[in-house]
Amino acid sequence: MSKGKVLVLHGPNLNLLGTRQPEIYGHETLADIDNGLRQHALLEDWGLASRQSNHEGELIDAIHAARLDATQAIIINPAAFTHTSVAILDALNAFEGTVIEVHLSNVHKRESFRHHSYVSLRADGVIAGLGSQGYYAALDAVIKAG
Ligand code: DQA
Repeated sequence: MSKGKVLVLHGPNLNLLGTRQPEIYGHETLADIDNGLRQHALLEDWGLASRQSNHEGELIDAIHAARLDATQAIIINPAAFTHTSVAILDALNAFEGTVIEVHLSNVHKRESFRHHSYVSLRADGVIAGLGSQGYYAALDAVIKAG
């Protein structure tokens, strides 16, 4: 039996990691990140599932499913939906566990439209600009909080 369960959600275009603007988003692929996170969680006796979608509704459905399957925490990089999606905010508001928002890049150093996040209105923590290390920092925070 694992100590807990965490869901990692990645929004649109993050399936292209490794080849998409590597000067901004790094050279690691999404599979590299997801595999590394899963191993890290396993070492701590936690279960970790991850999901990427380019479709807002699929991310919302995954958040709804997490309400029903004993997921303690969601680590989410909503990508461009960060800046546009009231629907993802509403879904996260209906989730009772911990929510941590992660961005690979420092969105505050970039175009002004990236400075506002709907998801931050719900997130318990926000990490930006640490590259893939941000996901690990989020996971460690979830695990330490138990
Ligand atoms: C991002 C930042 C967003 O502004 C952008 O739309 C992304 C990725 C990041 O991880 O830095 O797709 O969330």
